[in-house]
Amino acid sequence: MESEIQLTPSGRLKHFLSVSGLSRALLTEILDTAESFIEVGERNIRKVPLLRGKTVVNLFFEPSTRTRSTFELAAKRLSADVLNLDISTSATSKGESLSDMLENLEAMASDMFVVRHSQSGAAHFIAESVTPNVAIVNAGDGWHAHPTQAMLDMLTIRQHKGSFEGLKVAIVGDILHSRVARSQIRALNTLGVAEVRVIAPNTLLPNDVECLGVKRFTQMEDGLKDLDVIIMLRLQKERMQGGLLPSEQEYYRLYGLNQQKLAMAKPDAIVMHPGPINRGVEISSDVADGPQSVILNQVTNGIAIRMAVMSMAMSGQTETNTSRKEALE
Ligand code: CP
Repeated sequence: MESEIQLTPSGRLKHFLSVSGLSRALLTEILDTAESFIEVGERNIRKVPLLRGKTVVNLFFEPSTRTRSTFELAAKRLSADVLNLDISTSATSKGESLSDMLENLEAMASDMFVVRHSQSGAAHFIAESVTPNVAIVNAGDGWHAHPTQAMLDMLTIRQHKGSFEGLKVAIVGDILHSRVARSQIRALNTLGVAEVRVIAPNTLLPNDVECLGVKRFTQMEDGLKDLDVIIMLRLQKERMQGGLLPSEQEYYRLYGLNQQKLAMAKPDAIVMHPGPINRGVEISSDVADGPQSVILNQVTNGIAIRMAVMSMAMSGQTETNTSRKEALE
C-alpha cells in the first residue's frame, strides 16, 4: 500500500508518492505548512535554513518547466544543496541501469530524490529500492499520480474560496491520460468538496471513472452549471494512441473553455490549468488571461507546496532514522 510506504510509524510523511490513502488531517497539514512558507517568497532574502546541509537531487526523466523549476526553487529556499541531473547526458544513456544510477547518487550522500518518470509506479519503485536514508518525492509518474500538482491546486482553491465545504468542482478534458486529474480527484474528495465532476468526450474518460468518486458529464452545457471551480486539462497527445478525437478544432468547439461557456458557471467561478496550456485547443486566450483565471497563482503556489512537502518528508526521514538507530543501540 502506498500510504504505508510513504508514512512513518507515527503517521508522518517520509516519502510523498501519492495523495491516495492520506488523511484529511495530513493534507490539511501540507496546506497549512505551505501557507506558512508563502511569506518566505515575499521577503528580501527568500531563504529559511530547514534543509541546510541536505542534498536534493532532481531526477527528471520527462520534460518539465513548472514542476522542475519550482522544486529547484523550493529546495533552494529551504537552503538545500540541489543537483539537477540531466538525464539525457547521464550515464543511463550509456546503458547504466536505473538501480545502478540511484546507488551511485546514494553514495554521494543524497538525502532526497525528486522523480518524474513516464512509467506509472516509478517513484514507488524507487522508494522501495533506495536506502531508508533517502526521501522520495513523486513529481509525476506516467498516468498514475502528480501529488504536488494536486496539492498546489488545493492550496489555490482554498485561497480563493476560503474552504472546500460546499464547493462544486469540474475537471475538463483529457481525464483518461491525466495523472493530474487522478490526484486532484482524490485530494478534492478527501478534503470534502460537495461534488467533483469530470467533463469530456467518452473517448477521453476511463470506463469506470465514477468509481473514483466523480459525476460524469459529456456535454459542457450540463457539466458547467453551478460550478465554483473549473480545472482545464491539456490533451496529452504523447500518451494517446490516436483516433480518440476527430480534430483539435472540433475538440475546441465542443470542450474548449471560452467566455461564452465560462458564463454557464457561477459568476465568481475560478479557472485553473496545471499547464502547459494550449491556447485555442482547450482554452481561449481571453479566458486564460482573464480576471477569473488563477493559472499563474497555481505556479507561484507550487513553490510553497513543494517547500512544505520536502520539509515534512525530510523531518519524517529523520524521525524514522533516529528510531531505527535507537532500536539498533
Ligand atoms: N503541471 C506540470 O506538471 O507542468 P510541467 O510539465 O511543466 O512540470
